[in-house]
Amino acid sequence: MKVGLLGAGRIGALHAGVLARDEDVDEILVGDADPERAEAVAAEVGGEAGKIEDVLGAGPDAVVIAASTPAHAPLIRAAVDAGIPAFCEKPIALGYEETVEVVDEVESSGATLQIGFQRRFDAGYSEAKRLVETGALGTIYSIRLATHDPEPPPEEYIPASGGIFRDLHIHDFDILRWLTGGEVDEVYATGSVRGFDFFAEHGDVDTSAALITMIDGAVAVLTGGRHDPLGYDVRAEVFGSKDSVAVGLDRRTPLRSVEPGMPSPEKPAYPNFQERFADAYAAEMRHFLSVVKGEAENPCTARDALEALRIAMAADLSLDEHRPVSPSEVA
Ligand SMILES: NC(=O)c1ccc[n+]([C@@H]2O[C@H](COP(=O)([O-])OP(=O)(O)OC[C@H]3O[C@@H](n4cnc5c(N)ncnc54)[C@H](O)[C@@H]3O)[C@@H](O)[C@H]2O)c1
Repeated sequence: MKVGLLGAGRIGALHAGVLARDEDVDEILVGDADPERAEAVAAEVGGEAGKIEDVLGAGPDAVVIAASTPAHAPLIRAAVDAGIPAFCEKPIALGYEETVEVVDEVESSGATLQIGFQRRFDAGYSEAKRLVETGALGTIYSIRLATHDPEPPPEEYIPASGGIFRDLHIHDFDILRWLTGGEVDEVYATGSVRGFDFFAEHGDVDTSAALITMIDGAVAVLTGGRHDPLGYDVRAEVFGSKDSVAVGLDRRTPLRSVEPGMPSPEKPAYPNFQERFADAYAAEMRHFLSVVKGEAENPCTARDALEALRIAMAADLSLDEHRPVSPSEVA
């Protein structure tokens, strides 16, 4: 397969490595707004660097869009117009209207667009979902979700990030829908600036929490933050009438028990998303290539991205107005 990679930054370089190791991929063409980045990543994986239009014009069997967020919608449109199946990193766009337009275009054209919510391919989340679906957990009473980044991003990242709910918690919102198979009824979000004043200067927070009620009545509690000195902490706990399980709780979880006799976590804790989800990123790309070959269903559609965005927007509104907000208010 000939695969085009559009965007050769942090996550683009990671996807390039995964593609290079895949036996279905014979050729990788790399394009980036910054030609030096494209060349560096192409050289690392034995691919070829070129302009974006040349990559799209070279007749690739698939494209992987990993450019900065504002480039996603135009690149998705270019792939759809050229009839090339695409994988695109989250989000489709930060704005609701632009996202809806892209989702409509993708759905009406019948194009393939898989979105990069890699937690759906993580072994722990997958096992929790299996247990929910088989009924092994019984009635789902409540869910606890957490995403705590080790270090805040640089200040210049914040204004265009969309804020903590669209940027960081979007993965929690997606996984909540996916794990439970249900939809969100209401979000009550809060947040504050506890460590880094520049978040306040951009109308954002560095510490966040939300109470979420699902349409079937299950409740979820979410916490997050931009600074965890112990490492990258992403977890979920699902409490049911028959059993309760934890995802992301292992010897590298950056959390230590203070109970007597409990062993300390192994060092090093997960330092970043690349290490925590290395296997999940590989599995999602493997799955995408199977979708391209017509051997698998698209597991994470454009509409899933829109639904996660609506929950994030409800959380934003809730934070602003200090009241519970339904995602249906957003649209
Ligand atoms: N799924 C995940 O866990 C995950 C993790 C990190 C980032 N992301 C998403 O991936 C995207 C990229 O994030 P990153 O951390 O790699 O950012 P980055 O800044 O490291 O890289 C972005 C790259 O895109 C390039 N670029 C900008 N505009 C472009 C255009 N019009 N055409 C082609 N290339 C262009 C930049 O030159 C840069 O090389 C973001 O949308 C982000 O939300 C997802």
